[in-house]
Amino acid sequence: MTRDNYVGAIDQGTTGTRFMVFDHGGQVVANAYEKHEQIYPEPGWVEHDAVEIWENAKTVIERALDEAGIEATRLAALGITNQRETTVVWDAETGDPIHNAIVWQDRRTTDRVEQLEREGKVDWIREKTGLEADAYFSATKAEWLLDNADPIKMERTRTEDARDRAEAGELLLGTIDAWLIYNLTGTHVTDVTNASRTMLFDIHEMAWCEDLLAEFSVPRAMLPEVRPSSDEGYYGYTDPDGFLDASIPVAGALGDQQAALFGQTCFDAGDAKNTYGTGSFFLMNTGDQAVESDHGLLTTVGFQRSGDPVQYALEGSIFVTGAAIEWLEDVALIDDPAETAELARSVDGTDGVYVVPAFTGLGAPHWDGRARGTIVGMTRGTRREHIVRATLEAIAYQTRDVAEAMEADAGVEMGTLKVDGGAVKNNFLCQLQSDIIGTEIARPEVDETTALGAAYAAGLAVGYWDSLAELRDNWHVDAEFAPEMNPSDADARFERWHDAVERSKDWARE
Ligand code: G3P
Repeated sequence: MTRDNYVGAIDQGTTGTRFMVFDHGGQVVANAYEKHEQIYPEPGWVEHDAVEIWENAKTVIERALDEAGIEATRLAALGITNQRETTVVWDAETGDPIHNAIVWQDRRTTDRVEQLEREGKVDWIREKTGLEADAYFSATKAEWLLDNADPIKMERTRTEDARDRAEAGELLLGTIDAWLIYNLTGTHVTDVTNASRTMLFDIHEMAWCEDLLAEFSVPRAMLPEVRPSSDEGYYGYTDPDGFLDASIPVAGALGDQQAALFGQTCFDAGDAKNTYGTGSFFLMNTGDQAVESDHGLLTTVGFQRSGDPVQYALEGSIFVTGAAIEWLEDVALIDDPAETAELARSVDGTDGVYVVPAFTGLGAPHWDGRARGTIVGMTRGTRREHIVRATLEAIAYQTRDVAEAMEADAGVEMGTLKVDGGAVKNNFLCQLQSDIIGTEIARPEVDETTALGAAYAAGLAVGYWDSLAELRDNWHVDAEFAPEMNPSDADARFERWHDAVERSKDWARE
């Protein structure tokens, strides 16, 4: 495998799609990004147009290669990483989705989850899937899509009943990785990490769970084949007569948080990272042990290489962090996320203001689908600077919440925490995070570790990289932050923050 070549990765996130090309040293040589529309049909509902996502993926691939002057034929492999749980159902013949994709943030199936709680099925679901029963995952979204299939989009079909069509293999179900792989290669596959987020997959048996499929009335025939995250058998090849004019192996896929774990080279049990994107997702590798959480964390699949045992992870899923900064922009409290550090620094504290950005409920460790965004402690003297600072602090407090749960579950004290994602460019936030959590923070040189992880998975599968050790050598620190705040100060603020969290809970009850 010539090292003059490159590996490409599509990073299909909640707000947009990125394509990055990496060289053998793990450095970025091409990069393009395109946002897509966020569709909010009703309060608490979030949808994406899967066709727009696929079109954007093609656009960013072409643009990145074009701008960097790289021929597609020089890509040794393609990897995929994606917003997880977001669910698409499409027609196997035409490739057309029957409905917009239902996004991981969508709360429309909260009632159904409460029904599962009433029926006492939550422990059973946790045992099989490692997940806390929640509308966050794909299962109830898939059920909703099959119950509410759009008759207009189905008009070309033999029968109007989506379940019958699915049984007959006429409709396919997948998360965004599967949707992209299907469009790139024509094969219907997903990887183990994405499968583990559907709430339909048994993470101990490593197979679709027939009982859960029956519970949510999801026909087995519509599901993708589940493959390793780094697959020496390749998922498929791009169509040489298609948009790239090249036949490139698509050989790696990971949900974006697992991809960041891989890109941060957290290959060993105890290695942990936190990614600050739309939400924040704190994952700790637990090796080949699926560690059960007693503190509201998820047990999930970390990654799997062909022929190797599955590696598991504990995960603290925080639904809204970066999106809270976007919200500040939406309501015109800031013009640009880059301003937040300066605004926050311009005041000594938040003047008693606490923001709980529970816009889509609370994830780990609280799991309250009916919590909603809350600002408490405002006075006539409250300025936008205080609210901006309180929003950044909320990001740090939420992370401490899951870090503490992680330490309690894993029974170890956390060492240096590796961070990545868009918001870690903000030094103020990194320092604040280190202060609030009381541990050292390390930011790598390549902060797009999500795309890097997917590239690593694909590149390992085709032999572009030989070993995990080689990838570890590519990891270089950019900046480190050590706690400066008095720990009792941090504890007091953290305690007060919990009072605010309590006020946000169960707000959207009927
Ligand atoms: O589980 C949801 C997560 O995968 C979304 O990640 O980076 O698109 O916000 P991101």
